Amino acid sequence: MSSFDFKETLKNSVDIVRVIGDYVRLQKLGGSARYRGLCPFHNEKTPSFYVHADRQFFKCFGCAKGGDVFSFVMEIEGLGFFEAMKLLAEKNGIPMPAPKPDFDPASRKKASLQDLHEMAARLFQESLFGPRGEPAREYLKQRGVGRKLAEEFGLGFSEPGGGLVRLFQKQGVEEPLLEESGLCLRRTEGPGYFDRFRNRLMFPIWNESGKVIAFGGRTLAEDQPKYLNSPETPIYRKSHVLYNLHRAREGARKSGRMVLVEGYMDVLGAHAAGVKEVVASCGTALTNQQVRAIKRHADRVVVNFDPDQAGANAAERSIQILLEESLQIRVCSLPGGLDPDEFVKTNGAEAYRMELERGPGYFHWLAERARGRFDMRSAEGRMEAFRFLLPAIQKLPDKLERLAVVNDMASYLRVEPGEMLDQFRRAAADRTPPRALDVKIDQALPDLERVLIRLVVHHPGIVADYADTILDLDSFAELASHGILAAALRQIEQQGRLDFTQLQASLTESDAHLLSALFASDTEDVERTHDDPAAQLRACLGKLERDQQQRQRKQLRQLVREAEMRGDLAEALKLMEREKELARLAATQVF
Ligand code: CTP
Ligand code: MN
Repeated sequence: MSSFDFKETLKNSVDIVRVIGDYVRLQKLGGSARYRGLCPFHNEKTPSFYVHADRQFFKCFGCAKGGDVFSFVMEIEGLGFFEAMKLLAEKNGIPMPAPKPDFDPASRKKASLQDLHEMAARLFQESLFGPRGEPAREYLKQRGVGRKLAEEFGLGFSEPGGGLVRLFQKQGVEEPLLEESGLCLRRTEGPGYFDRFRNRLMFPIWNESGKVIAFGGRTLAEDQPKYLNSPETPIYRKSHVLYNLHRAREGARKSGRMVLVEGYMDVLGAHAAGVKEVVASCGTALTNQQVRAIKRHADRVVVNFDPDQAGANAAERSIQILLEESLQIRVCSLPGGLDPDEFVKTNGAEAYRMELERGPGYFHWLAERARGRFDMRSAEGRMEAFRFLLPAIQKLPDKLERLAVVNDMASYLRVEPGEMLDQFRRAAADRTPPRALDVKIDQALPDLERVLIRLVVHHPGIVADYADTILDLDSFAELASHGILAAALRQIEQQGRLDFTQLQASLTESDAHLLSALFASDTEDVERTHDDPAAQLRACLGKLERDQQQRQRKQLRQLVREAEMRGDLAEALKLMEREKELARLAATQVF
């Protein structure tokens, strides 16, 4: 059978939806044979990637990539046509015709390199469980890795005297391939080659389809480096590969999250603790390509790096990359200065899984870092802390979310939100052409706030009766337009009326800007709407009160959890009663 015939046979026996479904979360579009998902080839928030079951092809309207099942596998796995075909055939248990010597040389080379890695993995594994593997087995035992886990992760042992070069030569592997595989090195003096990995515990590194494409080797003597990794080769692009992704992706789809750790041992530890959705980058800084690979399977990432300085710095850098690709991020710093692997050993699987759930949103983690770095007693220090957070905030793709975060951070760092917004806008102006500064900033205001501002300006008499109540609400202080509303309400309280010019003059520059932008873009004249302004105001108040109660209930629930953790059940019960009381109140609310 020619490769062309085989291509057709194969194409007829695999389903493109199932193949792509392994890499992309697809959603069936009601009643049709079409599926939709987030494109794996470019960064997007709303899906424009379509798969047609009836015509067996895919197309992305965002980046214009499209094609049949082979183009998809080639693109996503970085494979040549022949390898893609081979992969699909293997996955579907369809025997391939013997390769013909005229397949393109690059593909042939990649296939050979992959074969060498499979041979190497087998040799390392045999060595680990063979007579000379005793020291490595002892080391694994010390670290609490049992035989089952070691086998599942294909761990192996590279013997001090090597053995790969001998094996490869016995198999008649062509010389140039030895070096190109990254597994053997050419002697500088004299002829011949020697093994790159010697006397190391070997961790195979897989591509997304579960083929060994590289190794990481941990020293068993105290020599340097602690971890030695394969170099880049035609089958190993470091910036694209995540350790354990092929195993983690199923769990990630189920739970919607991926746990990102630093090291191989951390992956093993988390996996053994039942957290299967765990990956690590292999000794390099996290890249956008790696993050995109995560994003194909999960929306949320829990960053769980070592709690030392290096780990925290790496986490900080990773967060920026994760943000660029629009993932939701939590940071989990384990107590007791332990890395994930150690934590699981010391505190058990259940405790680890709980810690992963408890991690703060990344902004609070970053803000904590900022607090430790700057003098939070001085206004200047607090501003600096905010400036430190700015780049991360600016990476948020959603305008509304940016504004909410600015607000949140302002209260957390106890900085005037107006001042922060000001800084924020100045930074934005540095980044974008000046016209973009005027992108109707007011559109970032939720409707509640827009209505409130209009009421305050057009119906000060009605608002006056409620000024006190509004000013006292905690939830009011959290509004993005809090500065404007507070100044207006105070004026109304003191003077019984509102002077617009006076109000403008009393605001910070950014609030003044916000206010004029709001009115400049306001097409809806409050005077002409039929809604009763007093009723509108009551609705706003009701919403603010509900927000406040919700926040209080959330705080109470957190306190309950903390009390439970301490074992203080009496206190927990008391707090729970209060929470219930608030819930009852909310249910009977009249607003
Ligand atoms: N790493 C590396 N090269 C090094 C050190 C580390 O590539 N010289 C990578 C490895 O992928 C390692 C990860 O960074 O797994 C984390 O490093 P580290 O925290 O030092 O290793 P641990 O996983 O804690 O290793 P161990 O527990 O075996 O000491
Ligand atoms: Mn570590």
